[in-house]
Amino acid sequence: PVPIWLDCDPGKCQDDLHAIILARFHPKLKLLGISAVHGNTSLPNTFKNASRILKACGSTDVKVYAGAEKPILRTPENAAYIHGETGLGGSDLIPDADESIMDFNVGGVQAMADAIINSSEPVVLAAVGPLTNIALLLLTYPQAKKNIKEILIMGGGFGLGNVTPVAEFNIYADPEACQVVLNSGVERIVMVPLNCTHQSSYTREHQEKFTELITPINPNFARMINELTDYVRQKYVSWGLDPNSISWHDPIAVSHCIVPEAFEDVEMNVTTVFGHGVQGEGQTIGDPIMRHGKKPNCVVVMKMKDEAFFKEMFTAWEIAAKSSI
Ligand code: BDR
Ligand code: CA
Repeated sequence: PVPIWLDCDPGKCQDDLHAIILARFHPKLKLLGISAVHGNTSLPNTFKNASRILKACGSTDVKVYAGAEKPILRTPENAAYIHGETGLGGSDLIPDADESIMDFNVGGVQAMADAIINSSEPVVLAAVGPLTNIALLLLTYPQAKKNIKEILIMGGGFGLGNVTPVAEFNIYADPEACQVVLNSGVERIVMVPLNCTHQSSYTREHQEKFTELITPINPNFARMINELTDYVRQKYVSWGLDPNSISWHDPIAVSHCIVPEAFEDVEMNVTTVFGHGVQGEGQTIGDPIMRHGKKPNCVVVMKMKDEAFFKEMFTAWEIAAKSSI
């Protein structure tokens, strides 16, 4: 299996939850650790939520660490007010945080650096929240770069946004960090933007299939995930979005390293619009033409096959259901 580190902000939309399940349970991946970052909700919440999700899935051997509580320059963007107090609302089957899998002594950025530097094989560094921890890692521990197989980012939008017409949440929440990552010189950076993730939706038909397949394995796990999903569907209605087309952005990005053949990638030179109050802040600008000697710094994933992603997700759900409490 490929060693993977997951940096995430579990809360809103529940998609980080499914990224955790995929990274932890897919047989082609070996999850080394999880770092939490500010984002969908506050850092104390994302830190606890990551532990609650692992606990709910019966995983006790992977540790969770707390990273940055704020973006590098701006004030946190987190939307705790929308997502209920913990940012992980909707099911009382989600257990409380398990402190035995939370590391309170080592910071998230240091833990990530240690895991990458000490890994016998290059590590996939998957980032599905704002990029603050990743930027801090690359600036503080440049020696980790050579053992990074790729930085796999869920973020960005090319001509698309979900916070502003041009900016996607993870980049908007810390555009300065994104620019640090893009300038880092890491050989392979893969960005999975909204253009790609919007091509997939977890429909009610998928949910029916999930219920049929997972309930006989573990009815509690099936109920928990379905309650969380129904909660997100209600939120979609209140946000004026179609509740039948939920996008699981974060696990889609993670699945790129499991089934790269299900995606279409374009090499580009990508920059971020940063600076507070600047028009278009948080926008990602992709230049596929690269005139005047510009070099590609990023692989941008523009297309995906929805069912190929769900095949891998169902594999992970099934395994998680077996070990889940
Ligand atoms: C991204 O923003 C977050 O709210 C989701 O978890 C995902 O990482 C989508 O724009
Ligand atoms: Ca996320």
